[in-house]
Amino acid sequence: MSETNGPRFRRLLVTGGAGFIGSCFVRDTLARRDGTTIIVLDKLTYAGNRANLAPVEADPEQAARLRFVVGDIADHAVVGPLAAEVDAVVNFAAESHVDRSILDPDAFLRTDVAGVHVLLEACRAEQERASRGERDAAPRFLQVSTDEVYGSVDTGESREDDRLEPRSPYSAAKAGGELLARSYFVTYGLDVVVTRGSNTYGPYHHPEKLIPLFITNAIDDQQLPLYGDGLQRRDWLHVADHAGAIGHVLERGASGQIYNVPGNNERANRDVVTALLAQLGKPWSLVRQVQDRPGHDRRYAMDDSKLVALGWTNKVSFEDGLAATIAWYRDNQDWWRSIKSGEWDAYYRRQYGARLAGSTEAR
Ligand code: NAD
Ligand code: DAU
Repeated sequence: MSETNGPRFRRLLVTGGAGFIGSCFVRDTLARRDGTTIIVLDKLTYAGNRANLAPVEADPEQAARLRFVVGDIADHAVVGPLAAEVDAVVNFAAESHVDRSILDPDAFLRTDVAGVHVLLEACRAEQERASRGERDAAPRFLQVSTDEVYGSVDTGESREDDRLEPRSPYSAAKAGGELLARSYFVTYGLDVVVTRGSNTYGPYHHPEKLIPLFITNAIDDQQLPLYGDGLQRRDWLHVADHAGAIGHVLERGASGQIYNVPGNNERANRDVVTALLAQLGKPWSLVRQVQDRPGHDRRYAMDDSKLVALGWTNKVSFEDGLAATIAWYRDNQDWWRSIKSGEWDAYYRRQYGARLAGSTEAR
């Protein structure tokens, strides 16, 4: 964003804006009060939640700059007219949980690959309109991707031009989506940028994922299902930093480029669990060692030099971010208790029933 002229892209289509990271992007962007308007397109799957945008809806000035459309990114009829109204599309919409991709891959292919294709086609149609003088430049398309496309990284750090070796249906679908996006840059000259973020945590994170699952289970003195030896390593990125970096790349990233967005907070899972139990004042005896995730990636780590060269630095340390996240889950129990009902029970039984029944005490 230029200091004097405000943001380069003032009218945004934010897909998946009712999810964890997308809603943070929407809240933080509208809270800048710089005139940016946002259309959120979200299918409101089990992971989407309008309550994630409650702070915006409670503020009349921000609410006036938000339009919420319930719909599917894979639906041409919905997406086309929305793309005609905006300067940029920021695609957060995805099926995002690795364990669910192992149980049921279909929706991952539909949304994370075919849905991206529909969004790209809508941008291409706008490019054609622009070439006929019917609008200004075609929308910029930012694809939110993941470090998981690199696959498991035993040592060192992945760089943007490393080969992709995704190993789960989720990461393979995400790789498909971003490769398709880049192909539209190469083939059609569409203005495309891609971000690859690392493991994100913070408020409004669906309780299916490690940190919120373990915080909310521990608050209720429920067992914590740690996969395998718990020595898998993840690089934790606070959601405000992830959303901020995406906004930064949207404004300043070079067309056709990919940017890693690491957290630079690599931890073994069991160390994360130790830290959160200590802060909650709960015992390690809640932790159960359960059957591992099939094909479980051992480690992710990314090099950040390209993003740093673009002028971005993260602001939230893991210690501060985790403490604030735990406080948020303690203070917002209505939010997660309403999610941990309905569909949740069937999912939890399917994912963890046999695992917990066959579990052992975790050392
Ligand atoms: P999330 O599961 O919390 O939210 C996904 C959102 O997309 C939900 O609101 C859901 O309703 C919506 N959605 C799903 N399918 C849709 C469809 N077909 N049409 C329209 N909306 C649809 O996910 P998240 O954790 O916020 O992740 C957002 C993006 O960031 C995803 O693309 C994910 O792959 C990527 N990412 C996530 C992380 C992480 O650690 N959470 C890290 C790196 C990248
Ligand atoms: O790395 C970025 C990715 O991070 C994103 O692309 C994904 O959308 C996001 O879900 C996340 O994927 P992970 O699989 O790394 O996150 P998850 O929270 O599911 O798991 C984190 C680690 O904790 C992983 O090693 C598996 C382990 N785990 C997870 C759960 C849910 C457990 O040991 N027990 C669990 O119950």
